[in-house]
Amino acid sequence: MELVFALVTDLHFGPQASFGGKLRKLTADAPALARAFVSRMNEAVRPDFVVNLGDDIEDEGFEADRARYGACIETLRGVQAELVNVAGNHDLVHLRPADLLAAWGKPELPGLHYSFDRGGFHFVVLHTREKKDVDVTVGEAQIRWLAEDLAAARGPTVVFMHHSAADQDLRGNRWFEGSPHICLVEERRALRSLFQQHGVRAVFNGHLHWNHLDVIAGIPYVTVQSLIENLDEDAPGRPAAAHAVVRVTPERVIVEIEGAERARYQVDRAG
Ligand SMILES: [Fe+2]
Ligand SMILES: [Fe+2]
Repeated sequence: MELVFALVTDLHFGPQASFGGKLRKLTADAPALARAFVSRMNEAVRPDFVVNLGDDIEDEGFEADRARYGACIETLRGVQAELVNVAGNHDLVHLRPADLLAAWGKPELPGLHYSFDRGGFHFVVLHTREKKDVDVTVGEAQIRWLAEDLAAARGPTVVFMHHSAADQDLRGNRWFEGSPHICLVEERRALRSLFQQHGVRAVFNGHLHWNHLDVIAGIPYVTVQSLIENLDEDAPGRPAAAHAVVRVTPERVIVEIEGAERARYQVDRAG
């Protein structure tokens, strides 16, 4: 039993934005980089499904965000495989959960967290909510839902979320060094203990704009780099063009990060 899925994150369709006076997100390149990702999926990888880990847009205003969010999802739908979507913080500054669900084609979902089964595996999508400059939380109701969902899961489980549930060492991260409260989920210990209790095989997130692996109690927590991150210090810029291809079996998880900064992570199940 092997399943192959691809991850893309932090596509940030939107106007040019600078950070600390420098060009850090190559937003102008986002549509072309997304199209290149779609082509690679269709021509070379042919995954069972593709996961969009969120932050499809920069936040400008309701109408602009709705148009850009729609354009990003529309581009990703070019993949000849199912598209699984996760909500990011920039997606929900002006848009409401119902707007995202409409764009996902899932207006019937009660919220932005959900789960599904494919190929003998169980997949959980969490909704991590960021209060700008304050905190990132999932909330008690979602933790209760997660506990019930994992307890009922048939088959090995993989989790997707926008922010991280690992205790990452943030030194050297351009965006979040010294600021764990706006990139790591506040209830991460509670989440990790549920993941451990129910034998979750891997957890994937975006948001931190770097590639990173922590293995905690045998579970890999993988952060995938933003598609449009500028790997150089300033303009004109060199896009990370990052995405990941994941091969998962009940015994093993192999993550291949593609793009300008390649990496390969393999974690075998203990015992
Ligand atoms: Fe982002
Ligand atoms: Fe984010």
